[in-house]
Amino acid sequence: MDTTDQGKRDGFSSKFGIIAAAAGSAIGLGNIWRFPYVVGESGGGAFLLVYLGFVLVLGIPVMLSEFVIGRKTKSNAYGAFKKLAPRTAWPVVGIMGIVAAFVILAFYSTIAGWTLHYVYLSLTNAFQGKGTTDLTYIFEQFQVSGGLPLMWQLIFIVLTAIIILSGVKDGIEKYSKILMPFLLLLLIALSIRSVTLPNSFEGISFLFKPDFSKIDAGVILNALGQAFFSLSIGMGALITYSSYFPKDTNLSTTAFEVSIADVIIAILAGIAIFPAMFSLGMQPEEGGPGLIFMVLPNVFQQIPGGYFVSLAFFILLAIAALTSSISIMEVVVAFLVEEFKMKRRQGTVITAVAAAFIGVFCTLSWSTFEGVTFAGKNIFDTLDFAASNILLPLGGLLIVLFVGWYMKSVEVKEELSNSGALKIRLFSAFLFIIRFIAPVAIAIIFLNGIGFIK
Ligand code: PFF
Repeated sequence: MDTTDQGKRDGFSSKFGIIAAAAGSAIGLGNIWRFPYVVGESGGGAFLLVYLGFVLVLGIPVMLSEFVIGRKTKSNAYGAFKKLAPRTAWPVVGIMGIVAAFVILAFYSTIAGWTLHYVYLSLTNAFQGKGTTDLTYIFEQFQVSGGLPLMWQLIFIVLTAIIILSGVKDGIEKYSKILMPFLLLLLIALSIRSVTLPNSFEGISFLFKPDFSKIDAGVILNALGQAFFSLSIGMGALITYSSYFPKDTNLSTTAFEVSIADVIIAILAGIAIFPAMFSLGMQPEEGGPGLIFMVLPNVFQQIPGGYFVSLAFFILLAIAALTSSISIMEVVVAFLVEEFKMKRRQGTVITAVAAAFIGVFCTLSWSTFEGVTFAGKNIFDTLDFAASNILLPLGGLLIVLFVGWYMKSVEVKEELSNSGALKIRLFSAFLFIIRFIAPVAIAIIFLNGIGFIK
């Protein structure tokens, strides 16, 4: 089905479908793979507090701003700015989003590929009887093996492209809404097991007891980057998605519900990981990007029916990754289809091939290109840093400035209230945040974090 091919645009059909699709974008590897290892590297509880503050004060307003832009214009991330601000430089924000989408797709598919490999390892019962040393070895051997992770990455990109091609409503909505509740249940089960392991308490206190001596400008920027990455904001993914929302969607409650769901999943992932890590005698900063792949197979083995839990977990994680990666790819595809009048199929193939090309360098960051580093970071870490800590915050900053200062406040209010059908409380607070608090806060955190100001 040629959904966004010129003329008629497709959309999401039900209210639950909208929230499920936006939550499907937000909830993904960012919560379950990225959050725990970034928390581990950033010192635990204090980072968590700062992160939660950023989600509430900056994340939700940025998300809401993207919704306003997307639904009002019914356009892709670039076209939306072009419609609202023709003959200005604002559409550059859309272009930045498209660049960010490529970068994220490239490294996201690396990790999603790892997840697929772990589905295969679960299936073949490869973790059975293995301790921490063996599990770490299994992961590291795989990570540096080159060809195998590449194969899985390509499979993942192809899967993403196939779903994108099946169209917005039929594709995205159908897959995301049935499966995510199962992931939640599994995470709850894993968390319960993790906190009941011997010596797990230290893990809980690491995650929840703030130690502010661990906080510095870099950690604060990490928290901002994590919040933006996890909420899928700052690059127009949610401009694109909300362009498919119907006119009666309540944007504010959607933004709120999606953000809360996102935070809950991340915290549950933290509870599943840290107590188990301490119980296994690992240090919280030890894991890096491989953290969940080394720790969770330990936990699975201590659960009745662990074989099935492990299999189900990695399958669901791969699906969560898929519902996020389609939202990333859709940013580029909607742009190509709407701005260059391409067929959806053509746009998808071009995007997938280009993403796979950059993706190869990410996946080979620990093998072939191990020696290629930028300021001490390998290719993978460099692209992750560039997207999460630079492009997304910058995009978010420009998006709030746009909605807060360029758009007329009556226009914004009109969109948020569905032309007056909804009562919106807190409108002035929202306006105050996007005009003053968010831009100043993001700018300071950003400039401080990259060492530009002290
Ligand atoms: N939010 C997704 C996750 O947490 O896995 C990743 C992501 C999706 C980032 C879409 C950015 C984006 F635009």
